[in-house]
Amino acid sequence: MPTSLETLFTPYPLSSSLTLANRIVMAPLTRCMATDDLVPTAKSADYYARRAEAGLIISEATIVRADGQGYPNTPGIFTPAQIDGWREITNAVHSQGGKIFLQLWHVGRVSHPVYLGGKQPIAPSAVPLSGRLRRSATENLEYGMPRALEAEEIPLIVQAFANGATNAIEAGFDGVEIHGANGYLIDQFLHYQTNQRTDEYGGSTEKNARFALEVIDAVVTRVGHERVGIRLSPGAHVHLEGQVADVPTFKYLLQQIQQRNLVYIHTGIFDDSVVFDYLGSTATEFLRQNYAGTVIGCGTYSPEKAAQHIEAKQFDLIAFGRPFIANHDMVAKLRQGETLKAYAESMLEDLY
Ligand code: FNR
Repeated sequence: MPTSLETLFTPYPLSSSLTLANRIVMAPLTRCMATDDLVPTAKSADYYARRAEAGLIISEATIVRADGQGYPNTPGIFTPAQIDGWREITNAVHSQGGKIFLQLWHVGRVSHPVYLGGKQPIAPSAVPLSGRLRRSATENLEYGMPRALEAEEIPLIVQAFANGATNAIEAGFDGVEIHGANGYLIDQFLHYQTNQRTDEYGGSTEKNARFALEVIDAVVTRVGHERVGIRLSPGAHVHLEGQVADVPTFKYLLQQIQQRNLVYIHTGIFDDSVVFDYLGSTATEFLRQNYAGTVIGCGTYSPEKAAQHIEAKQFDLIAFGRPFIANHDMVAKLRQGETLKAYAESMLEDLY
């Protein structure tokens, strides 16, 4: 093993009952390969099992109820068939000695009536998402105006996240990651641009953080804090725009998460070298400065750079996304000092 990578191969105690074999995490990666009933397939089981040498796998984002969908053939965790499909995957990963968390997801306004039986996407507020939804190589649709959720609808979504967590444990997952990042529903509540509510779910630091905290509390109540992590994007980088007024919301949220003893927080970003002017730092630096527990860094890291950051205690674990798509045997290759294959978008067409 190259000495520059030794740190990546040190074990990490994530909780009192779960020690990861190494610091390498497979990032959540949507692959759009579930059946039309949003059930993951045996091919996905092979795909995840091939990557089981990662210290922890985080599954592709998985919707907690039908109106959480915004892309074709993304898996769900709200029907018995979906739970059974995921059980095949957790069994396959565990039989290879791996550990796997399920990422709980609702896209909010990042959807289109085409996925919602003709209905409008839901969101904290009726703020349209500009841009186009790529459905296939030949078809793309304009995102539109979402419908602002009624206050009494919100507890039902919180419960859907909690049910998703219960179902994930039933399906054999070692834990769940709440997808609070990348401009999806939870993130939409956290930012003023997309949360223009004036009720108890928006309009101040505490109110903007309320939905995220209700989801965390409901999920923790179901499965225990030692099986819950969360992904956050304090540096807004996709699907919405951040502003300086959002910073107190994230500081408050991180303080609150600290008290709830989750197993980790995880940076949601594509390139973690970006310095956000309103944060005064990179996204992961901001998380580290405002949170004393386990941090998973992510975003265009090379293995060498990730090892240096872990040694410098800038984060504790590193999640790799695209390198894991390109290299099913990424961990073995790193151990043996072999060169990784470069990622190409064409690799998304097949699930190897
Ligand atoms: C992603 N990413 C992502 N993030 C997330 O939280 N849930 C998801 O389902 C997905 N899906 C997804 C699919 C594909 C094809 C890509 C390329 C990315 C983001 C991913 O987890 C990671 O943050 C980025 O890929 C940056 O890490 P790398 O790829 O530079 O190591």
